[in-house]
Amino acid sequence: MVIEAKKLTKRYRDFWGREKVLALDALDLSVRRGEIFGLLGPNGAGKTTTTKLLLGLIFPTAGEIRVLGRPPRDVEAKARIGYLPEESYLYRFLNADETLDFYGALYGIPRRERKRRADLLIEQVGLARARKRRIKEYSKGMARRIGLAQALIADPDLVILDEPTSGLDPIGTREVKDVILALKERGKTVLLCSHLLSEVERICDRIAILRSGRVAVSGEVKDLLAVKEELRITVRATDGPARERALSALAREGCEVLSTDHPRVTLEDLFLAAMRRENKE
Ligand SMILES: Nc1ncnc2c1ncn2[C@@H]1O[C@H](COP(=O)(O)OP(=O)(O)O)[C@@H](O)[C@H]1O
Ligand SMILES: [Mg+2]
Repeated sequence: MVIEAKKLTKRYRDFWGREKVLALDALDLSVRRGEIFGLLGPNGAGKTTTTKLLLGLIFPTAGEIRVLGRPPRDVEAKARIGYLPEESYLYRFLNADETLDFYGALYGIPRRERKRRADLLIEQVGLARARKRRIKEYSKGMARRIGLAQALIADPDLVILDEPTSGLDPIGTREVKDVILALKERGKTVLLCSHLLSEVERICDRIAILRSGRVAVSGEVKDLLAVKEELRITVRATDGPARERALSALAREGCEVLSTDHPRVTLEDLFLAAMRRENKE
C-alpha cells in the first residue's frame, strides 16, 4: 500500500477554537502501488483536505495515515512525493525553464540531469513554445501545465494531483491525462482528485466518491460502471434483411434484444479530431 488512511477525521476550527466544519468523517482510504486512484466528489466534499493531510500540511483531528509506509511528515517519504496543489504558487517572474531548474535544484538534482528532465517535462506538458515566457504572463491552463511539470521534476514515486485539469481546454486535458497514464506505465502511483467525472472515468483504476467527508461509493471503475444484467455485442454494421435475420436469430435463441445502436465516440475524441484536421489544412 502506498497510501493508507484509517478513520481519518478532520474538524476545522475557527479563530476561537470553536468547531466549524467536519470536513472528513472517519475516512478509510487505501491506494496500491502502481495504480491511478481517483478521489471524486462535489466541491466541499473533502478532497483537498485529504491531500493536505496525506502531505502533512495539516494535522488530522483523529485517525491514522501512512504514506509510502511512513507518517506524513517524514522527510524521506516527502522526497518521493510530487504534489500539484489546487492552486499552485509559482514565482511569477521566472519562466518555465527557470522554474523547473529552481525546483530541481531544491531537490538536489545535478545540473545536467535537471536540464534533461526539464526538457522532457516541458515537452510532455506541451509548453515548448512558451518556455521562455514569464509565468505571470501564463494563462490558467499554461500555469496548470507548468505546475504539473514542477510536481514531477524529482521523479516521484507517488504523485498527488488536486484538480489537475481545472482551467484546461480539451487538448490540455488530454495531454495531462496522457502524462498521468505515462506515469502509471513507469510504475508510479497517482492520486487524482477531481470533480470532473469524465476525465477520471477513462484513466482511473479505482475511485472513491466522497460526500460530506465520507466515502459514498468506492471500488474498481470497471466494476462500478458495468451494467452486469445486460450484454453488449458489437458486430460490423449491416442493414435491412441481414440485420432482421440476425435479430430474429437472437430472439429464437431466447435472447431478449433490448436495443441496437451504433457505438459512439466521445465528444472529446470528436473535438480533438477536429483540431487535428484544422492543423493539417
Ligand atoms: N482552512 C479551512 N478552515 C475551515 N474550513 C475549511 C478549511 N478548508 C476547507 N474547509 C471546509 O472543509 C470542507 C471540505 O473542503 P475541501 O477539502 O476543500 O473540499 P474539496 O476539495 O472536496 O472541494 C468544506 O466544507 C470547506 O469549506
Ligand atoms: Mg479541492
